[in-house]
Amino acid sequence: MLNEKLEQAFNDQINAEFYSEYLYLSMAAYFERINLQGFKNWMNVQIQEEHAHAMGLFNYVHERNAKVTLQQIAQPKNDWESTLELFEDVYKHEQYITSKINELISIAEEVNDRAAVIFLDWYVKEQVEEESNVSNILKTLKLICNDNNCLYMFDKELASRVYTAPEIN
Ligand code: FEO
Repeated sequence: MLNEKLEQAFNDQINAEFYSEYLYLSMAAYFERINLQGFKNWMNVQIQEEHAHAMGLFNYVHERNAKVTLQQIAQPKNDWESTLELFEDVYKHEQYITSKINELISIAEEVNDRAAVIFLDWYVKEQVEEESNVSNILKTLKLICNDNNCLYMFDKELASRVYTAPEIN
């Protein structure tokens, strides 16, 4: 079983990960509209990753013989002025998710649930990678992508991203 407060926090995190999937789906739609297929591909991989993050938590709550309670998923933003503005939003969002994971771990520690703390360690490492990936894209956009030629070339690069299912344990 999970402590009641911890169970609620896990359910909140499941919602946050599904919201992430939804937000990135909205961003993929934006890239489809402006025909940046490489950026759309990057988002499609991200969508699958977020789904895996949510399902990892979903399965863990069940593994602990606790209750998954799905919540409403908020409407994401649907329009951006530029690719740069969009990736600034992605970076802020991933920092927010990192803070949510840290809060979840604080609750697991507070209720002395060592197993949950160990399980959540995977998410801590994943967030370091998530923030780093997005930060690198943001740096490229800020430093060198001042024109459409650069954006076009960068789009080709992001087309090569491939999804690999994570092993969450
Ligand atoms: Fe599941 Fe991008 O954090």
